[in-house]
Amino acid sequence: MGYPYSHPSEVSIISKHFGDPGARTLDGWMKNGGYDGLKKALSMSPGEVIEIVKNSGLRGRGGAGFPTGLKWSFMPKDSGKPHYLLCNADESEPGTFKDRELIRWTPHQLIEGCIIGAYAIGAEQVYIYCRGEFFEANQVLGKAVEDAYEAGILGENIFGSGSTIELTVHAGAGAYICGEETGLMNSLEGKRGEPRIKPPFPAAAGVFGLPTTINNVETLSAIPHIVREGSDWYRQWGTEKSPGTKLFCVSGHVERPGNYELPLGFPLRELIEDVCGGIKDKKNLKAVIPGGSSVPILSKEQVESCLLSYEGVQEAGSMLGCASVIVMDENTDIVHQVTRMASFYAHESCGQCTPCREGTAWVTNILKKMEAGQGKEEDLETLIELTDQMTGTTICVLSDSVAAPVQSSIEHFRGEYQKLLNNGGGHG
Ligand SMILES: Cc1cc2nc3c(=O)[nH]c(=O)nc-3n(C[C@H](O)[C@H](O)[C@H](O)COP(=O)(O)O)c2cc1C
Ligand code: SF4
Repeated sequence: MGYPYSHPSEVSIISKHFGDPGARTLDGWMKNGGYDGLKKALSMSPGEVIEIVKNSGLRGRGGAGFPTGLKWSFMPKDSGKPHYLLCNADESEPGTFKDRELIRWTPHQLIEGCIIGAYAIGAEQVYIYCRGEFFEANQVLGKAVEDAYEAGILGENIFGSGSTIELTVHAGAGAYICGEETGLMNSLEGKRGEPRIKPPFPAAAGVFGLPTTINNVETLSAIPHIVREGSDWYRQWGTEKSPGTKLFCVSGHVERPGNYELPLGFPLRELIEDVCGGIKDKKNLKAVIPGGSSVPILSKEQVESCLLSYEGVQEAGSMLGCASVIVMDENTDIVHQVTRMASFYAHESCGQCTPCREGTAWVTNILKKMEAGQGKEEDLETLIELTDQMTGTTICVLSDSVAAPVQSSIEHFRGEYQKLLNNGGGHG
């Protein structure tokens, strides 16, 4: 049994060495074919590397699912300016715990992906922005970077190729909003972690006002395998629109929560019932949040037919996001869960946009009032109206992240809100 357990349905590519201390070291990684992808990339032109990644269909694992090769191709050619690759290791979305594991167990897999990415977009400097609270991940990564420098894998003339790539690990200070790409750039520059208005997009003016590409840890960890084995190899898993494998972080009321690497398009029902051993204590399922706390909640009926690809989850009525699957059993108090999420977002709002700053606080206050038995009949309509005004009106989508669970919970579980209003709170 693997780490902490594995399932036969898993296709372990990026998570193959979870639980294997040997693969953490440079020697161990090399023994497992480590840095072969980098050697192959360096023997090709940057454009050829981008083509492989484009053809693989890899989509960004940070949440939006944007095609990685296409993103890389937006970087200017021969700009004459320094270019940057940023690796987003802030992993701030509630329910998500995959990036820290990728870093902890396979730091060289990530470093290799970063060097290949930097080479492809013409960047000589990589920053890995790593959540400060991930003490062990920061430590392991720091050591791995040191070892890579000593071995000539980072720095000048990598593997004698003539390419220079420097890599710096930067520890964040624990703000959710610093996971948003432009908030992260501001934070890296020493400013407040406030998202920027786009355009300009990072490929034109990113960190330090220079051409920048930003990718998630999981995205970059897949790169060495794709470059080494080829795009057709990667496409043997997943669907046409969502090729490859994905780490699913399953938490909540299941017998075996954890990280599972599965082909995209895997049925959600099977993930819960088979891979995770079913609902804890043989209870019934009530609802699932399939992509981290900022996506719409799926009802039990929607879960039945939901396939875990970007398009499949959308068809079911939600979003795959970063594939953080939060499972809730029949005893879950949905209104309380939504209140907790809303208060998290109210606390984390950076405050630049009125609909977000005021809206997240108002939504939280109304929900808390309802829970305390002081709700009014019109509160439900106010919540819907308020969250409508918070959608698509702000600099980043944190504001929309509150609207999604509120609106979907009212749609599927209106009865629970109504009961609170009828009973004067207390979930009677
Ligand atoms: C409020 C907010 C928080 C985010 N937090 C993270 C995060 O913690 N980690 C991450 O990789 N992406 C996060 N993202 C997405 C990033 O902005 C960005 O899309 C991503 O890093 C791009 O990488 P990818 O193309 O590899 O997915 C967040 C987005 C928003 C709006
Ligand atoms: S939506 Fe919220 S978190 Fe995002 S920039 Fe505006 S105020 Fe800040």
